[in-house]
Formats: sequence, structure tokens, C-alpha cells
Amino acid sequence: MKWIEVNTYDEMSEVAANIFLKQIQKKPNSVLGLATGGSPVGMYKELVARYQAGQLTFKDVQTFNLDEYVGLKRSSPASYWTFMHNNLFNGVNIKQENIHLPNGEAEDLAAECKAYDARIDAAGGIDLQLLGIGVNGHIGFNEPGTPFDSMTNIVELTESTRTENAIYFDDAADVPIHAITMGIQSIMKAKEIVLIAFGEKKMEAIQKLKSGHITEDFPASQLLKHPNVTIIYGGTN
Ligand code: GLP
Repeated sequence: MKWIEVNTYDEMSEVAANIFLKQIQKKPNSVLGLATGGSPVGMYKELVARYQAGQLTFKDVQTFNLDEYVGLKRSSPASYWTFMHNNLFNGVNIKQENIHLPNGEAEDLAAECKAYDARIDAAGGIDLQLLGIGVNGHIGFNEPGTPFDSMTNIVELTESTRTENAIYFDDAADVPIHAITMGIQSIMKAKEIVLIAFGEKKMEAIQKLKSGHITEDFPASQLLKHPNVTIIYGGTN
């Protein structure tokens, strides 16, 4: 595991954007795993700027997002579909058919989970996966206690995660109870992983990860077993 400590959120965003830029330059038809939340906003902004400056093209890039709420319309302002379009996709030349997010509106959610993993496999697997981390160590929406061998599945969100994500909704009670998320094993299958975390709130989780103890009570700890992970982190005060 490679650790890169940064001083500011902007520095974190730039370091992470550079890794994605190099990946796309090296392999124009890269398959990227993407995340939502406050952590990647700066990185996406940076990638849009680099695209506008002509440094990269998303023409042949495919993306797979980690997760989506269940029962929320894609058109809802709080959906991850909307988040990704507002923060990245609308600013670059990615083709709509190359954008993949789990469908939280699917009638048969179990079938959608299976199909999502199959779609990732059919694309050749994820070359580079971006992750944030929840204060309780969740990755994607894999909450503490999730089996390490989980594939894409339906999860019930913890109260702590629902509270953390309430800022994206008009009313805290509107935060869905369930989500569809790539599993820990689906994430571990990525060839390379970059995890970003900035701010005091996140540092306890980062310290836990650094301690090297691998346990299902702390989902991110399974990343210690992956051969190619970079953690970009900072912000102790
Ligand atoms: C949500 C997302 C995660 C994300 C986490 C942290 O729960 N499902 O993928 O990593 O929030 O978000 P933030 O970056 O806003 O702290």
C-alpha cells in the first residue's frame, strides 16, 4: 500500500486527478471505477479542466460507479446518477452508453446486482478504481460487518451513513434506507485502487487502516490485501 500525505484538499484532488489522467493517456479505453461524495468533487473538477485544456479525452473511456440509492429516481437531484453528471460527465466527452451506474430503480434488484458485476467483467474489469471512505470505514456502501467476499448487492444503510449523507437531501428523512453497491470483492477485483480522504473527521479511519489490522468490522481494511493501492490523505486539523 502506497501512502501519500497531502496538506490541502486541492492537493489531494490534483494528485488523484494526475493518476487518472496518466491512466487514460496510457490506455484511452480505460475502464474506471468511480465514487461519489464530497471527497472526489475536486478531482472531477480537475479532470474536467484537464479535458478542456486538451490533455485527455474520454471518447473511449468506460465508467462504473460504486453505488446508487434504491428507490430514488435517476432524475432526482440527490441520486448518484445526477451527482456524476453534474460533477464529471456533463463536462467531458464521455459517451452516454459508456456510463454505468447500478440501477436502484430496477424491478428485480437481485438480477440487477448480478448483471452489474457481469457488465464489469464484460468490459474487461476495472483498470483503476476510485474510493472514498466513510467515517466507519465503509467503502462504496459496504458497511461494517459486510463479508469480504461480497459482490454487488443490496444493503441497508446504517444510521451513521444516512446522517452523513443527509446534506444531499432536503430532509434527512428522505435519505433512502437501502442502496445497491459493488461488493468488497467486486472492488478488490480492480487492477489498481486509489482511495482519497481529507479532513479531521476521516483521520480516525485512516489511522485504523494504517494500523494494519484486517477485519470485516472495518471494510476498508481488506484493501491491505490488494497489491496496488494508493491512499491519498491529509487534514489533521
Ligand atoms: C457515501 C458513498 C461512499 C463515500 C462516502 C464518503 O457513503 N457511498 O462511496 O466514500 O459517502 O463520502 P464523502 O467523500 O462525502 O465523505
